[in-house]
Amino acid sequence: MSVKKIAILGSTGSIGTSTLSICESFPDRFQPVSLAAGRNLDVAVAQCKQWRPRLVSMATEELADQLAARLRSEGVTGIDVVHGTAGTVAVATLPEVDFVVSAIVGVSGLEATYEAVKAGKDIGLANKEALVAAGELIIAEARRNKVALLPIDSEHNAIHQCMRGGTAAEVKQIWLTASGGPFRSTPLDLFASITPAQALKHPTWVMGQRITIDSATMLNKGLEIIEACRLFDLPPAKVQVTIHPQSTIHSLVEYVDGSILAQLSVTDMRLPILYAMAYPERIPSELTFDMKSLSQLDFQQPDFARFPCLRLAYEAAEAGPAHCIALNAADEIAVAAFLEGRIPFLGIPRTIESVLQLTKPGHPASIQAVLTADHEARQLAREVALGQAATH
Ligand SMILES: NC(=O)c1ccc[n+]([C@@H]2O[C@H](COP(=O)([O-])OP(=O)(O)OC[C@H]3O[C@@H](n4cnc5c(N)ncnc54)[C@H](OP(=O)(O)O)[C@@H]3O)[C@@H](O)[C@H]2O)c1
Repeated sequence: MSVKKIAILGSTGSIGTSTLSICESFPDRFQPVSLAAGRNLDVAVAQCKQWRPRLVSMATEELADQLAARLRSEGVTGIDVVHGTAGTVAVATLPEVDFVVSAIVGVSGLEATYEAVKAGKDIGLANKEALVAAGELIIAEARRNKVALLPIDSEHNAIHQCMRGGTAAEVKQIWLTASGGPFRSTPLDLFASITPAQALKHPTWVMGQRITIDSATMLNKGLEIIEACRLFDLPPAKVQVTIHPQSTIHSLVEYVDGSILAQLSVTDMRLPILYAMAYPERIPSELTFDMKSLSQLDFQQPDFARFPCLRLAYEAAEAGPAHCIALNAADEIAVAAFLEGRIPFLGIPRTIESVLQLTKPGHPASIQAVLTADHEARQLAREVALGQAATH
């Protein structure tokens, strides 16, 4: 059995470290050979010492120089250190890499993911922003190069698994489950005073900061709606959302004959990562779910008044790629402004809505055009957020 050589984009993050823990559990199956980190030098040094990858990238030249110096001083040799977007692309397209885990947060990992697809690498896609911003381009390229795009996002991973039970034409609709976040039953009149500390407390998952806030506003589910449309070639009307606080069912596929298939498992991202890395095989693991402890599964329909970001995401999905880019970019700026205490929690949907209203429909035809549209939407979002900060 050959060892799959793995590139990890975002190796120092939550998904990146979970991926390395899978490599640690299955050393005869997966070997990390190239890593891309952002700014976390200490973790990057520790990963280099443990894994001795061939190639490592840091976000900036200065950080790359610091990493190289630290490795030299600790006697760690044989690792090339690169930086920036070109460095991330080099990590993703290293010839010996078989499989790329795309887990950089935001659009920073977009070019590397796209270039990896072009280079014919199979991809485990955690980074939903890539599909939201450039889904049409990435999917077209993946089809052209016969590349497997395996979702790591737990809901899409569940859909991928349930889709193995029928053909695409037999799918009536899909159901993405959502935990509802920490404010599922908070009285609406308290929403105006929600603090970053409250929003960063997710009831079931431990994740990076942006995705945690996005879970609290449910914009995360909104991005997942768009991601599902792209991955499974479905119109927004066939992508439903149901709130399921236990997060035991990760998503469901409803078939035309009335059968609904669901995927249940532990709430541990290592499982979807393992599924994607091992696909089409299933590897025995210790990530078992205790069926005997299962006593209750609750569901409720999402309320657009409580979660306006969900409505905005459906609207963007219907409006097309330019609006999806704007949705993602405006949210990233608004979340940062909220975390810095510059705008209130409800300022996040207000910022996104204003930016969407100012966005013209369009289909960017290249990654560069996507990045330009993203840049413009960010600029707009900053101006809108600034206006809100002045009155906050
Ligand atoms: N965590 C989850 O459970 C989960 C579930 C589903 C989907 N996702 C998706 O997976 C992606 C990653 O999420 P996460 O929770 O792992 O985020 P995270 O913990 O914040 O990690 C983000 C990673 O991206 C790296 N990064 C940031 N900017 C970079 C840049 N300019 N160049 C290179 N690397 C950069 C960070 O590096 P440094 O830390 O070194 O700065 C870190 O390794 C997101 O798109 C998220 O929506 C996550």
